[in-house]
Amino acid sequence: MNVLLPRSWLYVPGNKSDLVKKASNGSADAIVIDFEDAVLTADKPVARSQLIHHVELLKAQNKLIAVRVNGPKELLDQDLEVLRTCVPDYLILPKVESPSQIQYVVDQMKGFDTRIIGLIESPIGVLNAPLIAQSHKNLVALSIGSEDLSFEMQMQPCWDSLYVSSMQVNIACKAAGILCIGYIGSIAEFRELDRFKLSVERSAPLGFLGGFAIHPAQVAILNEVFTPSGTEIELARRIVKEFSAAQNESKGAIAVDGKMVDLPVARRAQQLLERFGHLFD
Ligand code: COA
Ligand code: MG
Repeated sequence: MNVLLPRSWLYVPGNKSDLVKKASNGSADAIVIDFEDAVLTADKPVARSQLIHHVELLKAQNKLIAVRVNGPKELLDQDLEVLRTCVPDYLILPKVESPSQIQYVVDQMKGFDTRIIGLIESPIGVLNAPLIAQSHKNLVALSIGSEDLSFEMQMQPCWDSLYVSSMQVNIACKAAGILCIGYIGSIAEFRELDRFKLSVERSAPLGFLGGFAIHPAQVAILNEVFTPSGTEIELARRIVKEFSAAQNESKGAIAVDGKMVDLPVARRAQQLLERFGHLFD
């Protein structure tokens, strides 16, 4: 399903064609072809040379396509050379610590108008998130890289340890008018799915939109949690309709289902419909 905003982004090592094929047949909204941590240095040329083939495969299945490039300049330059010949829907830049890294990619991809997602994976990245988030109009979202950040912070990736930094990045995103993708928890959790689901369920109401996965079992959870229920959509439609009617009667606040609805409540309902209403038409 090709949704406006991906609920699930499934990573696949860029040199593993068999996994790309499986991902193309799976239920993830977006596939992230990884050139970075999941691919050993010796295998990176293979990942780059297979990109065109992988993109064709995924496009045929109507998947949104992202490529996660490498951070260090020499590897990044080689990645970007390939991306200029085969432009994905999104470019994911890892280990972002300053606005200059975003600007560098924008300059190198000049003329392609590539949408960039930045990964914040270090303490300095978290502290600079407000500047990074506002750095360029092509930056559409930020996300915490839970495993790298936990390594840098010498902490275990869990709700308590990731909460503050995740919310700092979330606030930086909202202040800049961009999206915050992710959940407060470890992406590596693909066997203990109850724990993974709990993290995503607790994160979604905090304003995170969609999340990354490394395994198909996580995708099902992301799609479920980040899709509003039919009841929520029905309520949102009623809120918008009744609030609009109330405004025509010069009322700024009304009650719907025992809860007060005023402008911000109605706007939130409207936003939900804009993002997901088409899934329920
Ligand atoms: N994309 C597509 N298919 C995947 C997949 C992925 N990311 N991860 C697992 N699968 C497939 C497996 O190939 C297997 O298929 P099969 O039933 O046809 O044999 C099925 O899903 C079940 O996989 P499972 O046996 O539970 O896991 P595994 O031990 O084969 O793989 C990982 C575990 C972690 C090695 C694997 O999920 C993976 O490589 N994930 C991506 C890692 C990555 O990109 N990391 C960088 C981002 S942080
Ligand atoms: Mg990493």
